[in-house]
Amino acid sequence: MRAAAARRTRRRRARAVVGLIALTSCGAGWVDPDSPSSAQSTTEIGGSDEYDLVYSDEFEDGRTFHEGHDPRWTAVNKNDYTNMALHFYHASAVTTSGGALNISTSYSPTSFESAEDDKGFVVMTKRRKPYSSGMVQGWGKFCFTGGIMEVRAKLPGAGAVGGLWPAMWLLGSLARATYVGSTDWIWPWSYDTCDRSLQPKQEINACEPEPHFGLDGYTGRGAPEIDLLEAMPGTGTMNYGLKKPYFSASYQVAPGKPHDRPIEGKRPQPGQWYEKGLKYGRNVSMNAFFYGEELKHKAKRDSYTADAISANRPIGDEHFDDFHVYRLEWQTKPDGMLLTWYLDDELIFELPPEALELTGAKMPDEPMHVLLNTAVSSTWGFPAPCPPGCDCTCYDCIGKVADPACSCGMPEGLCAMLPAFYEIDYVRVYQNPDDDTHKVGCSTDTKPTAKFIAGHKERYFDAYNGETKPLHDQIVGGGKCKRDADCGPESACEAKACACAGDWLGPHCRAYRGFDDVVWEHEQTLGFHAPFVPASLGRAAVVLSTSLAATLAYHVLKRREGRQ
Ligand SMILES: *[C@@H]1O[C@H](CO)[C@@H](O)[C@H](O)[C@H]1NC(C)=O
Ligand SMILES: *[C@@H]1O[C@H](CO)[C@@H](O)[C@H](O)[C@H]1NC(C)=O
Repeated sequence: MRAAAARRTRRRRARAVVGLIALTSCGAGWVDPDSPSSAQSTTEIGGSDEYDLVYSDEFEDGRTFHEGHDPRWTAVNKNDYTNMALHFYHASAVTTSGGALNISTSYSPTSFESAEDDKGFVVMTKRRKPYSSGMVQGWGKFCFTGGIMEVRAKLPGAGAVGGLWPAMWLLGSLARATYVGSTDWIWPWSYDTCDRSLQPKQEINACEPEPHFGLDGYTGRGAPEIDLLEAMPGTGTMNYGLKKPYFSASYQVAPGKPHDRPIEGKRPQPGQWYEKGLKYGRNVSMNAFFYGEELKHKAKRDSYTADAISANRPIGDEHFDDFHVYRLEWQTKPDGMLLTWYLDDELIFELPPEALELTGAKMPDEPMHVLLNTAVSSTWGFPAPCPPGCDCTCYDCIGKVADPACSCGMPEGLCAMLPAFYEIDYVRVYQNPDDDTHKVGCSTDTKPTAKFIAGHKERYFDAYNGETKPLHDQIVGGGKCKRDADCGPESACEAKACACAGDWLGPHCRAYRGFDDVVWEHEQTLGFHAPFVPASLGRAAVVLSTSLAATLAYHVLKRREGRQ
């Protein structure tokens, strides 16, 4: 209790200092000043503790999310190499309008040069993706460990038309989605036991006495995944009476169950799958349609299975026509670890640690970042198996209808429905001030990531896509303008360029600053002679010791895998 009180005081003091610097009445460094007073705290649905708002984004209009534009998010501008994606992610597909984040998905083909492996050599190959869509990642910016996350969103398109794969999810800091080199042997590991047969499959494992990069010895690390929502629109009824549209709430972990796995689409045999302690809400059923997958690598000893412990909940048109609140309660206290998903405060799914005894995987305790995206994939809501006589290799629209040559392999009505907009009214994260396992930061005292990422930074950007580092420095002003109103609050248009003032950032000064109240690296580097490395990856100076091309070529080879 004493310790908790001291911590509370420390946090209050930190906040007081922040308040003085920022001259605002707001608390934590990541809280959006537009969050209403009613949103400053929340009470656990699964308990009675009161939590404080530690991060929010209310998505005021006029924001953009290209590299360096925003302190909270980066909209990736690259091909998606995962999950048989039929889209290219454009940073311009993500805007804010009507007080919400707006991720547009359209039929808008993109041709690009893809770096592909040919017998160990990188060959630039012309590729084309028929759809354009958007993904924002909080990677390297805002991360948290433990707490409550709420997302109020309206799903894109129509409940009855398949083809889109909107998602809101969390991923451990050590992996960056769509950058496949960062996810191999890292995603979705959550395992802290030394098992020699699994050691080659988990890069940071509990067998290693001296892993370097500021990591603790004999400690297994990785990047687990928590999906608040992955929505499956469409019509029809699946096995066991599950009607589309529905959404899945999942925890994805490695190691997965290696043998005697349930058959996809069929319920598991007794004792075959995770069941201990799992609780399903009303109208919710276990997900028999995705048990995870094998992540195949060249050598069998490097290949591993990832499991999805997942539940499905039918939804209706109202989830595509109106806003609803999706919520995760993520408890990280050693004696009370728990994951609980809610929709509009109604229980969806509860996952306690006992459920994981099947494989020995751990409950998530890594710092995680938020991702919001809409994917288009032939593996999600497209006719499957491929209808007889259909070649299922083209997915083009001609105006509002499918190209007749492609239509047999496409969901009905997809072309007519596009463009579609995934709107997110807010993202809010709350933490319990009395729980010292709840932390803000991408690299914390107990789960450092900064040095590992800095030491492997080539994995977190795509040199073949013209990128030169994982994240760009924050842009402050300089956006084109004609009048002051073209620039954000407190800012002015000077010589046709926005000049930011106060706490406003981005080219048009419309993004509110954000920062961690506690910089854990101070503690981490205490006693070292090396200079303090700031959390911001954009500024981390690192000498590349390996050949970039060789490393990338190696990873390109394995781009196929990775359901991230
Ligand atoms: C979303 O943004 C697009 C432009 O990218 C715009 O055409 C559309 O109207 C916006 N949608 C909403 C719901 O504001
Ligand atoms: C939920 O279940 C109830 C019956 O328990 C049923 O009447 C209702 O239609 C179901 N709702 C959905 C969205 O499936």
